[in-house]
Amino acid sequence: MNKIVIHGARLLSGNVTVSGAKNSIVALMPASILADEVVILEGVPEISDVYALINILQIMGAKIHFTKGVLTIDPRGVKSIPMPSGKINSLRASYYFMGALLGKFGKATVGLPGGCNLGPRPIDLHIKGFEALGAVVFSDKDVMYLRTKKTKLVASHIFMDIVSVGATINIMLAAVKAKGRTIIENAAREPEIIDVATLLNNMGAKVYGAGTNEIRIDGVSKLHGTKHFIIPDRIEAGTYLAIAAAVGRGVTVHNVLYEHLESYISKLEEMGVQMTIREDSITVHPNCDLKMINVKTYPYPGFATDLQQPITPLLLKSYGQGELIDTIYERRIGHISELKRMGANINIDGYRIIMDSPSELKGAEVVASDLRAGASLIVAGLIAKGVTTIYNVEFILRGYDRIIEKLTNLGADIALVDTNNKVKLEERGGR
Ligand code: UD1
Repeated sequence: MNKIVIHGARLLSGNVTVSGAKNSIVALMPASILADEVVILEGVPEISDVYALINILQIMGAKIHFTKGVLTIDPRGVKSIPMPSGKINSLRASYYFMGALLGKFGKATVGLPGGCNLGPRPIDLHIKGFEALGAVVFSDKDVMYLRTKKTKLVASHIFMDIVSVGATINIMLAAVKAKGRTIIENAAREPEIIDVATLLNNMGAKVYGAGTNEIRIDGVSKLHGTKHFIIPDRIEAGTYLAIAAAVGRGVTVHNVLYEHLESYISKLEEMGVQMTIREDSITVHPNCDLKMINVKTYPYPGFATDLQQPITPLLLKSYGQGELIDTIYERRIGHISELKRMGANINIDGYRIIMDSPSELKGAEVVASDLRAGASLIVAGLIAKGVTTIYNVEFILRGYDRIIEKLTNLGADIALVDTNNKVKLEERGGR
């Protein structure tokens, strides 16, 4: 068990570069098995979710090579062997193997997904989509069994009751080789969905309209190999922007696309954060006089639920009263009790998170309950006076590429430490 130890209240400066998007790569890797040839993914982050997926792909029979952010996947040996539990349910995105295996082989046996506990996270919309494409789906003891009724899936017109990133991508993966034209209405519009559609199209698929709320897919019989560079991680970028606004004295975040973060950046501007925005970088200038604002999360292009927790410590540093409402995951509140432990004046009232600021954060021993709650505690630890020790850091390493190294380069006093208090290099692989 590792922990992260932060000596806070230091001013950070310099440059930090955002890595490839976690929520893209976890879909691009399962998508790659749909090809009949080698797929090369570039700009791949070194996060534990990637190593977990490499492990799963190897068990399925893929040949993998991963070095310096370049991931080569040779899917020619992949078989639709049952993946009931164990590795498969270590991460939520393993549900993309349902769509990918169903699309490739017409059958899949996959354990129900794990991942961050953000309250109930059903997959009924994924199943509704698979069934509309002609699959028979049933579950038994946390394992999903999916089979095509005919030899091939058949295109369908699918209306999504709720905007869902995962269901939109999963249905795309299942439909790319289905017979005929599939239409997904009320589709999610996240940049990661466009990224997956771009990869599929570069493999020879015919996916139109990704990034809008209507996606049309003309099924093809074969998909070939390709090379693809992953989009930057907008959530990682947003986290570093929050850190830069909270404790920066001039920090430039590189490899960030403004168009992916418009709603978030407009909120930072509303707080009074001073920024210089360039084509692929943003410099955050120092400003101690930040104003409290209200934040409500929505599906893209609204304020991302994944940035609700990382921005909270910055809000606690500002002046005034405000509230956060997460309309996507109402129970995404694992950071609140820990921030209170650090001295934050923050409370939950029904589905609202209420703040009365500024709060003087003080170092404390805290526990990361999920990935973005962990990111929130890192931001808080960097702001707080004294020493903050964060436990359960495996959650954080699932999604933030080389975070210790990146923050150390900005001047932070932060270390990954094992139970014997030995400072470690950031762990790669094997989780
Ligand atoms: C993805 C992201 C996650 C992000 C979330 C919302 C990945 C790997 N994860 O998760 O980081 O926080 O989008 O932006 O990309 N829902 C249903 N039934 C379903 C599917 C979803 O009711 O079958 C509900 C969910 O409970 C939630 C909402 O729809 O309230 C949106 O969830 P969804 O977009 O599917 O989230 P994920 O794809 O799991």
